[in-house]
Amino acid sequence: MGYKEVYGAWRADPEAFWLDAAKAIDWDTPPTKALNDANAPLYEWFGDAVGNTCYNAVDRHVEAGHGDRTAIIYDSPVTDTIRHISYAELQDEVARLAGALTARGVVKGDRVIIYMPMVPQAVMAMLACARIGAIHSVVFGGFAAHELAVRIDDAAPKAIIAGSCGIEPGRVVHYKPLLDDAIAQSAHKPEFCIIHQREQEPAALTPGRDFDWADEVAAATPAPCVPVGGADPVYILYTSGTTGAPKGVVRPSGGHMVALHWTMKNIYDVEAGDVFWAASDVGWVVGHSYICYAPLLAGCTTVVFEGKPVGTPDAGTFWRVISEHKVKSFFTAPTAFRAIKRVDSAGEFVKKYDLSCLKTMYFAGERCDPDTLHWTEDQLGVPVIDHWWQTETGFAIAANPMGLEPLPVKAGSPSVPMPGYDVQILDEGGHPMKPGELGAVCVKLPLPPGTLPTLWNAEERFRKSYLTTFPGYYETGDAGMMDDDGYLYIMARTDDVINVAGHRLSTGAMEEVLAAHPDVAECAVIGVADELKGQLPMGFLCLNSSSSERGAEDVVKECVKLVRDQIGPVAAFKLAVVVDRLPKTRSGKILRGIMAKIADGEPYKMPATIDDPAILDEIRAAVQGLGYAK
Ligand code: COA
Ligand code: AMP
Repeated sequence: MGYKEVYGAWRADPEAFWLDAAKAIDWDTPPTKALNDANAPLYEWFGDAVGNTCYNAVDRHVEAGHGDRTAIIYDSPVTDTIRHISYAELQDEVARLAGALTARGVVKGDRVIIYMPMVPQAVMAMLACARIGAIHSVVFGGFAAHELAVRIDDAAPKAIIAGSCGIEPGRVVHYKPLLDDAIAQSAHKPEFCIIHQREQEPAALTPGRDFDWADEVAAATPAPCVPVGGADPVYILYTSGTTGAPKGVVRPSGGHMVALHWTMKNIYDVEAGDVFWAASDVGWVVGHSYICYAPLLAGCTTVVFEGKPVGTPDAGTFWRVISEHKVKSFFTAPTAFRAIKRVDSAGEFVKKYDLSCLKTMYFAGERCDPDTLHWTEDQLGVPVIDHWWQTETGFAIAANPMGLEPLPVKAGSPSVPMPGYDVQILDEGGHPMKPGELGAVCVKLPLPPGTLPTLWNAEERFRKSYLTTFPGYYETGDAGMMDDDGYLYIMARTDDVINVAGHRLSTGAMEEVLAAHPDVAECAVIGVADELKGQLPMGFLCLNSSSSERGAEDVVKECVKLVRDQIGPVAAFKLAVVVDRLPKTRSGKILRGIMAKIADGEPYKMPATIDDPAILDEIRAAVQGLGYAK
């Protein structure tokens, strides 16, 4: 069947479609029903099913006689390591780690925070939690201690599993000291921590609280997979919202297995035994879905890559990994290819490698600009597929389903809605818009299996963030349009979320940090266009009159440091400027959208409600001082 038939089959009978997809999963108790809508607009999928995610990702492949197949290839140019881990080895290590967690009192439903670099132990830690029904929450290593503390307080974990250090080009990231600092800052204290000691920087352990991963695993009795209800969470992943408090996206286990498994063949065109590589980080949703769970659920080999597209050691690293490990489908963010293109636009490196194993290249995480798309097509000579999704959904809302039927590629479009998603473009009043008209991109409820049913500890925020503006729909927060062929175009966010190097960041969170500086009376952060990273944050600071003797330059420097210390290096906050005042509406709303347009040199419409238009000239002069709006 082609795309139209499959999408049509889903529309005609979603219940039958998902029950059929659920057959790919080995359940303890198979579902008799897919959707429970008794509590609409809150929905539950596979609520009467029982099954274990770790069993489906690991044990069943070993039981089926594939224990020798490689589950994980760890390729780390920053430590000069390549390691192959078979499904049998993975099962042993994961079961032992799960046994260690159980022995220390972790039970089903407990939360475990994972704070680790891109090492296979990160994937093992996720699977060990899933094995015993504990809910993991992975925190990206580029966040500062404060952000980790906020997540510790919200998730209230019984345990934390961390690496002793991470390795960024030119510096060691001191994970363990960051963890200690975060635990000191948090009100909730974990009962214990398990630390994976890396030889690049072993950490000092706090007696009675911290335990060495290697000792724990060596001493542990392997734990069996526990039965988990289909609607029980397998993980929480925090993502940026409009305010500083991150949103804890809840991922239910049953729908997650069903949906991810479906995507592997139908979207990514891979099957058991194929090598799949997502060059992202376990701290992001792409890492959860496509470094850890989906490839393993499908019995593929997944690549855990610890390095950068350029500089580790050169712009040929990606091609080497693809060629050396026979990667069939490769997935990353366009920014990574822009980074390669910047240093090797002629594609000298790509010529050195045999990439005949590669069949398809996938982009997501940010808008894929046509230049990057075409350059990648020219370099690799394979279809380059943009697809669009969010932390909230866990898998693609729109894609080109290569395993089902390759559709024509249209540059600038992530192609068409996937089964499960009835995507509509709505105007402010919630009315469907015509093809080619720009509006709010929404999905008619219910969302498909595997997507978020709620936010952790924040059902009201869930309703308010996603379900209230357009009753009956999920509001994606993206603006876009659909063409006559049903292809989607995602153009911008409708909120204050920005996208920096494929990383989703909250300008509101940065403003909260800046506002805490004693000399800052008022501030605004916007996203400005950047050739490499897509967007960069830019801060505008109005100072207290008492701070006038201090140099504006000093305050700017302190503010840049403050954001790095509080949110982390991932915020990439380096641009800030002092201004006398901020442009506002008469009711006091800061005109961030217009400020961004000025910085990007784009035309804008003067809002009738603006308080003082002259301030816009002051903003233009300020951003010109930073090299923008030229
Ligand atoms: N731990 C600690 N620090 C980290 C980190 C981690 N896991 N990841 C990034 N950082 C740091 C970087 O070292 C950098 O610090 P610096 O200001 O001291 O240089 C800062 O956070 C900003 O990181 P980033 O915006 O990623 O910039 P970069 O120059 O390190 O790399 C790219 C730029 C484009 C090469 C990189 O972002 C990339 O490969 N992105 C594509 C893949 C991806 O991550 N996708 C995510 C969603 S699919
Ligand atoms: P995250 O939750 O971090 O995955 O970020 C999701 C957001 O990234 C989306 O809401 C979009 O704004 C943006 N995004 C992700 N993929 C794409 C894409 N293929 N095209 C355009 N924007 C994208």
